Amino acid sequence: MSDRPVSSAVSIGGVLLRSPLIIASGTWPHEPEYWKDPICAFVGAACTKALTLHPREGNPGIRLWETPCGLLNSIGLQNPGIENFLRDDLPNISSGDVGVVANVAMESEEETAAVLSRLSVFEERFLAVELNISCPNVDAGGMAWGADPSLAARAVELARRCWKGPLWAKLTPQCGNIAEVARAAEAAGADALVVANTWLGMAMDPVSEKPVFSRKVAGLSGPAIFPLALRLVWEVSSAVQIPVIGCGGVSKTEDALSMMLAGASAVAVGTFHFSDLGCFRNIGRELLEHLAAKGYSSPMDLIGKGKK
Ligand SMILES: Cc1cc2nc3c(=O)[nH]c(=O)nc-3n(C[C@H](O)[C@H](O)[C@H](O)COP(=O)(O)O)c2cc1C
Repeated sequence: MSDRPVSSAVSIGGVLLRSPLIIASGTWPHEPEYWKDPICAFVGAACTKALTLHPREGNPGIRLWETPCGLLNSIGLQNPGIENFLRDDLPNISSGDVGVVANVAMESEEETAAVLSRLSVFEERFLAVELNISCPNVDAGGMAWGADPSLAARAVELARRCWKGPLWAKLTPQCGNIAEVARAAEAAGADALVVANTWLGMAMDPVSEKPVFSRKVAGLSGPAIFPLALRLVWEVSSAVQIPVIGCGGVSKTEDALSMMLAGASAVAVGTFHFSDLGCFRNIGRELLEHLAAKGYSSPMDLIGKGKK
């Protein structure tokens, strides 16, 4: 145990977060009380739901399906659309205690450019834009943007032109070689990479003898995917120079520490807080205790240490 004070702050490509814990996109209500302490104490930033140009009702039918240690979702980017978000939600959430990260779903180039130019008018209210090039739920003409290095680069280049603030690209595990996609996103101007979104899965209903979800496949999240996400964090952080935010299945302090040891500068939590809203406080406290016990002064001392 060291007497040196431990700071929980981390820097993500020039953005200072008071804690390395981030609330993952699509999992947190836009009601104002959820963006304030004490709920958000120990949270460094919270991501909005995916934002699109026009309002979206989301997918029909069943949207959530529990699996052992995991959750399948097929929400379909339900959101009020950028104008309603800016008018109704942003004033509430951006006056809270936690920094706002705008999650933007990569739709057509024209629509994404329009969303980003509207966000740019309010740039000072956001810590960053998180460009979701990974959503597996919406049929937008075939392959996801993040499935291929050249498509990913095209998406990030477009966002870089339209949004001058910090830009995070959220990658998908559904790609051939994630290190190549990561390098392409970095070269195209991303300031950080979020690794990663959900893994495509499926559920079958033996009674109806049909897939449970209207779109057949759905995104798997929660503790079931943690070892898979950890491996991606290791691979991506070894391939790029920009910071990596680990995301996928984190449910306890050891998971957050493991992500950082594998190369993550911060860690996002989504599904687990559905069953434990206090997880940010618990993980945040235990992280600081662990750092103090090890004699570190900051979580940044841990980043990538597992590789040395
Ligand atoms: C119900 C639900 C909705 C989600 N919506 C979004 C979204 O709108 N945009 C996005 O980039 N990711 C979305 N995600 C993915 C999460 O942000 C996160 O990447 C994924 O769930 C893995 O983290 P976890 O295992 O901690 O939940 C969603 C996940 C869930 C469970």
